[in-house]
Amino acid sequence: MDSSFFSDSDHHYVAPSFLAADFLHIKNEVAWLEHELVDLIHLDVMDGQFVPNISFGLPVIEAINNVTEKPLDVHLMMYRPDYFISAFRTAGADIITVHYEVCEHLHRVVQQIKESGALAGVAINPHTPVTVIDDVLENLDLVLVMSVNPGFGGQKFIGRSLHKIETLKNTIVQRGLSCKIEVDGGVSPANARALVDAGADILVAGSAIFKSADRNKALDLIKNC
Ligand code: DX5
Ligand code: ZN
Repeated sequence: MDSSFFSDSDHHYVAPSFLAADFLHIKNEVAWLEHELVDLIHLDVMDGQFVPNISFGLPVIEAINNVTEKPLDVHLMMYRPDYFISAFRTAGADIITVHYEVCEHLHRVVQQIKESGALAGVAINPHTPVTVIDDVLENLDLVLVMSVNPGFGGQKFIGRSLHKIETLKNTIVQRGLSCKIEVDGGVSPANARALVDAGADILVAGSAIFKSADRNKALDLIKNC
């Protein structure tokens, strides 16, 4: 997968977050994710240090990669992601996103991701202003705007995120950059349209899809909002 994957600027992409899947039935869940409306599989890696939760890691991602054709969008909520870039790439990550808040040498980590062959993303927490990544924006394939505090699924969308997405979109357009905007946390059929209108290119949704009574419908409502 290369950056031409995101060449469709007329439509947004949907990335169901595997964190909300049924872990007792991973195989069935991955099979469902072959759905034609699923663009990417979002995989949340948590270290119990940067965020107050531990999710899953390399062996699970590798197992999923072995049975899916979908691109894997790996969101690293962990300290020292630079130690693990090549391992996540080998496990099957097509996109690797690291947090701004944990990288003292963010530019270097972004280069490392690109050298691994993955697309490079940087995530920013709700309290982090979008302007802090101005000077790496031209090196990024995507910015992940966290619209909840990272660590858990099922939290309430933080309204201010819409404003951050608009600000970031303006910067990207003004500078003629190709960087995409991904939004993660509390995304649902109810706010999908507003997020796309604000400038989001990739909508991550966990609970709104997997915990829905009709997940096919929820996916359709988010994709065709
Ligand atoms: C939160 C994760 C999200 C999470 C979103 O730390 O980064 O990807 O799965 O879950 P929902 O969509 O339920 O808010
Ligand atoms: Zn995530």
